[in-house]
Amino acid sequence: MQNRSLASFLVFSLLPVIGITFGTNALTAQSSDRPWMNSQLSPEARAEMVLQQMTLEEKLALAHGNGMAHNPAWTMPLTPLTNGGAGYVEGVQRLGIPPLILSDAAYGVRSSGENGRYSTALPSNVGAASSWDPESACAYGTVIGSELRAQGFDVTLGGGVNLTRDPRNGRTFEYAGEDPLLAGTMDGNMMKCEQAQHIVGDIKHYAMNDQETGRGFINAIASRRAMQESDLLAFHIAIGIANPGAVMCAYNRINGDFACENSYTLTDVLKKDWGFKGFVMSDWGGTHSTEKASAAGLDQEQPMADFFGAKLKDAVAAGRVPMSEIDDHARRVLYAEFLSGLVDNPPQTSVVDVVKGLEVAQHVEEKSIVLLKNDHAVLPIDPSRVHSIAIIGGHADVGMLSGGGSAQVDPPGGNAILPPGKGATAWQMHVWFPTSPLKALRAKLPDTKIDFNAGTDPDAAASVAKGADLAIVFASQWESEGMDLPNLSLPDQQDALIEKVAAANPHTVVVLETGTAVTMPWLDKVEGVVEAWYAGSAGHTALANVLVGAVNPEGKLAMTFPKSESDLPRPVIAPEPPAAAVQFTDSAHLPAQAASFAVQYDEGPEVGYKWYEAQHKQTLFAFGFGLSYTTYAYSGLSIDSATKTARFTVKNTGKRAGTEIAEVYARLPKGADESYKRLAGWARVTLAPGASESVTVAIDPRVIETFDEGKNGWNLTPGEYEVVVGPSSDNTPLAGHLQIR
Ligand code: BGC
Repeated sequence: MQNRSLASFLVFSLLPVIGITFGTNALTAQSSDRPWMNSQLSPEARAEMVLQQMTLEEKLALAHGNGMAHNPAWTMPLTPLTNGGAGYVEGVQRLGIPPLILSDAAYGVRSSGENGRYSTALPSNVGAASSWDPESACAYGTVIGSELRAQGFDVTLGGGVNLTRDPRNGRTFEYAGEDPLLAGTMDGNMMKCEQAQHIVGDIKHYAMNDQETGRGFINAIASRRAMQESDLLAFHIAIGIANPGAVMCAYNRINGDFACENSYTLTDVLKKDWGFKGFVMSDWGGTHSTEKASAAGLDQEQPMADFFGAKLKDAVAAGRVPMSEIDDHARRVLYAEFLSGLVDNPPQTSVVDVVKGLEVAQHVEEKSIVLLKNDHAVLPIDPSRVHSIAIIGGHADVGMLSGGGSAQVDPPGGNAILPPGKGATAWQMHVWFPTSPLKALRAKLPDTKIDFNAGTDPDAAASVAKGADLAIVFASQWESEGMDLPNLSLPDQQDALIEKVAAANPHTVVVLETGTAVTMPWLDKVEGVVEAWYAGSAGHTALANVLVGAVNPEGKLAMTFPKSESDLPRPVIAPEPPAAAVQFTDSAHLPAQAASFAVQYDEGPEVGYKWYEAQHKQTLFAFGFGLSYTTYAYSGLSIDSATKTARFTVKNTGKRAGTEIAEVYARLPKGADESYKRLAGWARVTLAPGASESVTVAIDPRVIETFDEGKNGWNLTPGEYEVVVGPSSDNTPLAGHLQIR
């Protein structure tokens, strides 16, 4: 007995010395019968090894979800492992392949319904894109990834990168703006860092899901060239940076075929041209066929098994779907599991790092807030001049607004506005975080008298404003998945409230909590405008820091604010046909009204600022615009055509340290059939007062190429490209030339 203990003592104490820990020893023991557990091998090789061991049933199990918690339409006998999330895919337990436990996570881990877990809400995605800061995007993704993991999830359904073709799109807040390079870079960095937390990353909604009206059947019509140079380019850039395990195909149709059975976008572009090795999952209920979808490149139906369950099995048995297709679907899911590290590091529930989440949420918001107007330096608030402030409207006494739909994050302690805002169902509820700007400002300005008026009676609000040194009106506009905005006006007579307050007090500042652009009929009458977006869990602190000048604003709009809806490519979004007329499940039996419902993207690649420039339309605030409490000057542009770089100097000409986002645009050579410039790169330059820095920005060749439909490839047209540099898309004081031979 004693000898055996001694022997085991020696074995266990010597193992580390000879380089084998207990853990790796266990691995070695497993390795002989599970060679794919060797983490030194490539994800491809590991996936292939597992695939060889799998039965047809096991492969088919990877091709579909098993219901969605708390959704009556999609509830199946759920296993506790679904964890209250958006979906669940069985793993292959006997081979050590964990299940996929999916959760929405656009700006934080989605409200988990009954599991009651806490999650950080980061600022809305379009807000965060306005930081133009890939490092912030990474920090953003890291928080979400680690919180998903802590809650026991292993697949994120974040990563929305649909371009803002129409600012009324109800999901604009979930996306990263209107430019493919900016959106792709921000979304890609977010997802790269999310996946680094051993979460299968996802980029969605592929593709052309640029409005919500009729999203389940609308036919988005655009030329291949237009798509390649706009929406698809954003996806390509994001996918290139993030290398995500998954891509979610969208609800809509693209040039006739549903996005989840579209062989051009799924197979030709995504899998072949871009070499995407992960799996394509359908948006929820977005699968409408078996053979067609499988052949087109859909790998996994979500959240049920209507087409990729028994029907797929029958189709295989009957030879209508080849085994090679089933293998490809399964191989891709396995690859994503190995790629993300999920197999080697299955999720372990733990306590969310609340403090870290709040810190990141605050810093990202501080970089994302955009100062749109600041006449007579009304901001930052100077307590030596401003002794009294009237805070008006927007529930600023209790909280700040968040975006709705499947992106919704639960506020700690529940909705700050009780009874909850409008709407009968949870999906339609306006959710306010308990982040009061009023309290945050009072904490920063202890010697200033700060009064609050709810703004429900504009006359009463005006009289409170009249007696104060400064009036700040909080205005909000709610957005959600499943709807588009009827227009870009602030709802609920907020424009009239602002007019009244501005008439009563010449020192009026408007703080906007919006998910997209709004029109501002009162713009000339107010001194200041601050776009705070949906500001997240620490938005009040970040906003107060900007208002008092503890933080110098640096954000720049990731999307244009037009003057009016009449300037948009489509002044009106066509209403969708009545629900009864568009009922269908399979794509082969689309009712006539669903089949004919279409949106013609005639503006082609002219999305956002490109459209306004090509159409010679003035904007309210241009893409890339944002003020600072300091000023900057640009000089000395030189272009190196050999290295495709622009070099110039940025100087801080004001009295405060600040960070300037310097933007570089390129125009194609004369003769090219386009009359707009393309964002080609940018730099973030942090400068002390009076300091200057020479900046080099690489001109990204991907955004100055044109797509040739005939050869299905890209051309870098030889000739002289005009390169312009400046603080926003409508203000580019420097110009030079790039020669492409
Ligand atoms: C949304 C997706 C979401 C999914 C699961 C769908 O309605 O379009 O973005 O990930 O639901 O909740």
